[in-house]
Amino acid sequence: MIYMSVTIGTPLQASAFKVLLLGSGELGKEVVISLQRLGVEVHAADRYDHAPAMQVAHYSYTLNMADAEELKQLIQQVKPNLIIPEIEAIATQVLVDIEEQNIATVIPSAKAVNLTMNREGIRRLAAEELGLPTSAYRFADSIESFRAACDDIGYPNFVKPVMSSSGKGQSRVKSFDEVDAAWEYAQTGGRVNQGKVIVESQIDFDFEITLLTVRAKNAETGEIETQYCDPIGHRQDAGDYVESWQPQAMTPAALEESKRIAHKVTAALGGCGIFGVELFVKGDKVWFSEVSPRPHDTGLVTLASQFQSEFELHARAILGLPVNTTRHSVAASAVIYAGVDDTNLSFSGLNLALSHPDTDLRLFGKPEGFKRRRMGVATARAETTDQARELALRTATQVSVQQN
Ligand SMILES: Nc1ncnc2c1ncn2[C@@H]1O[C@H](COP(=O)(O)OP(=O)(O)O)[C@@H](O)[C@H]1O
Ligand SMILES: [Mg+2]
Repeated sequence: MIYMSVTIGTPLQASAFKVLLLGSGELGKEVVISLQRLGVEVHAADRYDHAPAMQVAHYSYTLNMADAEELKQLIQQVKPNLIIPEIEAIATQVLVDIEEQNIATVIPSAKAVNLTMNREGIRRLAAEELGLPTSAYRFADSIESFRAACDDIGYPNFVKPVMSSSGKGQSRVKSFDEVDAAWEYAQTGGRVNQGKVIVESQIDFDFEITLLTVRAKNAETGEIETQYCDPIGHRQDAGDYVESWQPQAMTPAALEESKRIAHKVTAALGGCGIFGVELFVKGDKVWFSEVSPRPHDTGLVTLASQFQSEFELHARAILGLPVNTTRHSVAASAVIYAGVDDTNLSFSGLNLALSHPDTDLRLFGKPEGFKRRRMGVATARAETTDQARELALRTATQVSVQQN
């Protein structure tokens, strides 16, 4: 057999294979650890000092990544082989130019990063170009057009700033009385004060899943192949993930349809890497919701359930290496919040939390906590997903956060 040849140099030497991470949160931290294990030289950037992924990188940089000039300068300075955008608030046009000029490879592709940073780009691609089933939707950029859009879509509906994530500025509007308040909230919660929102009809789903989908090169042929992890079920609270489990039981028809949708949307976005495809499921019916062209927060469960976590899968795929999406256990994850607005927090109850042999923890090391900021995650393995969920939730609760 003839294998594709991937070469990695020595970090901190002239031969180094360099990766620049834009956004250095807890998901990026795990990606960096996976890259470090393969001898990659890692550069991590974020808007604040000591972000989680910076703490495990070779070099770190604090800057405003939404500023095109600052971002361009950083890329010129680092000269990375790969650029991994970990967040959406980036001057994505710079990445499009970088890719066009062959200066570096953008993961998974500049097109994917550009389209998914705005709900309008990805929704129009999925629904209008690819013909995938989605909720009914309208876009609005003024209070008048917003009122009309809400009436068109009906109630209840979901309103989201087109540039936002983790439930920020998002609301569920139950009647016309709530429309003006939802507009106000969307205007303050968006990433950029851009004004535009999407109004979506409510999908009455049985459950929602993340289908982690990996585009990676076949070791022999070099062709990009699509592989799927087992579906991950999750529970969201105010648009933010609080627990997830794998596998989510579903009908064979719904699983096939989920893969069809995931294949279509990830192929359109292109490149190599992992994608978190969010889907709503009711019986055999599946709707596309959104997609992250990077590891997904609900996929933290794969740290406990798979031979290669979503972070290792991503690291391997972006380096052109083969992947294995096999799950070895049933597992669940539960989020640990700060519960307070403060810096310099301490975490206790860890011995109790880890006393069960099938539990594990990640504490992200964020320098500052907010009430609803994710500071860590508990994972648990068990015989069934119900048992794993219960154990993961209990483990997360056993960790207590203290102010100093
Ligand atoms: N059209 C919809 N119908 C039903 N539930 C929805 C709809 N849109 C969003 N949700 C709920 O809100 C959560 C967050 O929405 P999402 O579009 O994924 O925003 P974010 O980008 O902030 O994750 C979803 O996971 C789902 O639970
Ligand atoms: Mg989401």
